[in-house]
Amino acid sequence: MSVINPFEVEGDVDYKKLIKEFGLQEIDDSIVSRLNKICSDKGIPLHPMIRRKIFFAHRDLNKILDEFEKGNEFFLYTGVGPSGPIHLGHLLVWSFTKWLQDLFDVELYFQFTDDEKFLFKDKSYEDIQNWLEENMKDVASIGFDPKKTFFIINTRHAGLLYPEAIKVAKKITFSTIKSAFGFTDSNNIGSIFYTSMQTVPAFLPSILKNKKMFCLIPHAVDQDPHFRLTRDILPKLGFEKPASIQCSFLPPLSGATGKMSSSKDVSAITISDTPNQVKKKINKYAFSGGKDTLEEHRKFGGDPSIDVSFQYLRYLFEEDDQKLKELEESYKSGELLSGELKKYTIEKINSFLSEYQERRNLINVDDFILNV
Ligand code: TRP
Repeated sequence: MSVINPFEVEGDVDYKKLIKEFGLQEIDDSIVSRLNKICSDKGIPLHPMIRRKIFFAHRDLNKILDEFEKGNEFFLYTGVGPSGPIHLGHLLVWSFTKWLQDLFDVELYFQFTDDEKFLFKDKSYEDIQNWLEENMKDVASIGFDPKKTFFIINTRHAGLLYPEAIKVAKKITFSTIKSAFGFTDSNNIGSIFYTSMQTVPAFLPSILKNKKMFCLIPHAVDQDPHFRLTRDILPKLGFEKPASIQCSFLPPLSGATGKMSSSKDVSAITISDTPNQVKKKINKYAFSGGKDTLEEHRKFGGDPSIDVSFQYLRYLFEEDDQKLKELEESYKSGELLSGELKKYTIEKINSFLSEYQERRNLINVDDFILNV
């Protein structure tokens, strides 16, 4: 049994089943070949997360590609709730989003839902504001184009968002919210309203520019219930339904079920971890698909499909398909040991983080905040 909604991800996720349950479209060969064509026209390689089906589902991505081919503009929209340190699971969505921004040369609207985290987490308003400051820096350091990236902060841009959010809210009943998110009568009333705020950036650019704009939302599949509502409501307000492209969850250090999360102790590698911390976390906590003894490992080989280090390479840190295949094969055959695989993974993560942390020192968040 697994639970998947914006507020809870638990258990072993069956993504094929999820596609059916949520009514998603699969990233199939026809989508891959359309993306491939655009990539080769631009001289940009197809993203490994598409090649490996880590982004595995979508809604109406074909429509976005049609519009793009007709020369019509679209924009990207994604976001984060600032309530803790940024971890590798966040990077998954955002590094892919940056790739989309570069490939299509489009604007990105990035929402910081400080209201959401205040309403849903047991944290003070001040704590959330501190995380907001940190997380804005974290996001800006991904490498998004500051001229084409606009941060929307729900509490600070409230004057802009609220008039639109109430138009959304008026179209949603309490019973719809209860069934979409599993809320009950004991939920606080702010949480009931919240999804209206998450809908607004999907059409805000159309209002700001006073023209019909198409929207593509890259996100982890747990956010889909929000955007199912968004897709129901936007046509009623005279806007296009947003399209989406959705990814699976990066496994937590402890193994292949659930998702990486910073609210659970040692499930996450965060972007501010030092090389030593990364080394310790991987060596001590990363679930290994290797065998208990050297002798058994050499004889029977390891299982990369449940090995967290291997999965981090597959999800994020080994771009080279050939190299990944070699690692997989030699791990399976017992030639590559768990300790060796961990060592390689640690080096990869640390070299990524050191570049990232250097960029972060030079960031000026004000360059990114939406100014209207
Ligand atoms: N609700 C998301 C979270 O909990 C934040 C968010 C807001 C978001 N808008 C989004 C995520 C758009 C993906 C796409 O972190």
